Amino acid sequence: GKQVAVSAHDAQPQRDAATSLDTCRRCPLWEHATQAVGGVGPANATLMLVGEQPGDQEDLSGKPFVGPAGQLLDRAMASADVPRERVYVTNAVKHFKWEPRGKRRLHKTPAQREIDACHVWLEQEIAAHRPRVVVALGATALKSLSAAKAKLSSVLNQPYEQDGMWIVPTYHPSYALRVPDAEARAAAERTIVEALARARELL
Ligand code: URA
Repeated sequence: GKQVAVSAHDAQPQRDAATSLDTCRRCPLWEHATQAVGGVGPANATLMLVGEQPGDQEDLSGKPFVGPAGQLLDRAMASADVPRERVYVTNAVKHFKWEPRGKRRLHKTPAQREIDACHVWLEQEIAAHRPRVVVALGATALKSLSAAKAKLSSVLNQPYEQDGMWIVPTYHPSYALRVPDAEARAAAERTIVEALARARELL
């Protein structure tokens, strides 16, 4: 059979020059991004959260969910009693897609071809961590994760099993931030908290 190197040094073959996330050219998004943003979390994490793509602050810092969406996510995780330091947090797309709006960089939703091009990296993270539960934060994460291509509204907060893990689809934190009506916004945030609580129960 195939020889597989198992030394600690070889534990991250994706960092090899030719195949590194840092130098990924599988789609054109790298050109206007500061850097690729990979996942963060302990190697033994059993819970994985998948967002859409880095935002402005994530692009600059190189870490997922550190901006406004990350703050909402932190709050939701605290409410659901899910410690962030035990969770692996990543995105479906690893480069920030944006368009200029005055001095600001305005988020643009990634296209299916960009989600598809980036899928290999998410697959690699899933293969490396083998999480028991994956929370899909929003439609882009669900598109990347769901083999059945389920629509978010039809599976919202309904865990389903796929490839030996639970997928829990819920809203994206940025969606909850954008809901104009205060009560509806609070309800969207509660929906995310409930999804995280379900995820925790499934661990
Ligand atoms: N939105 C995301 O989907 N991911 C991040 O890392 C930040 C904002």
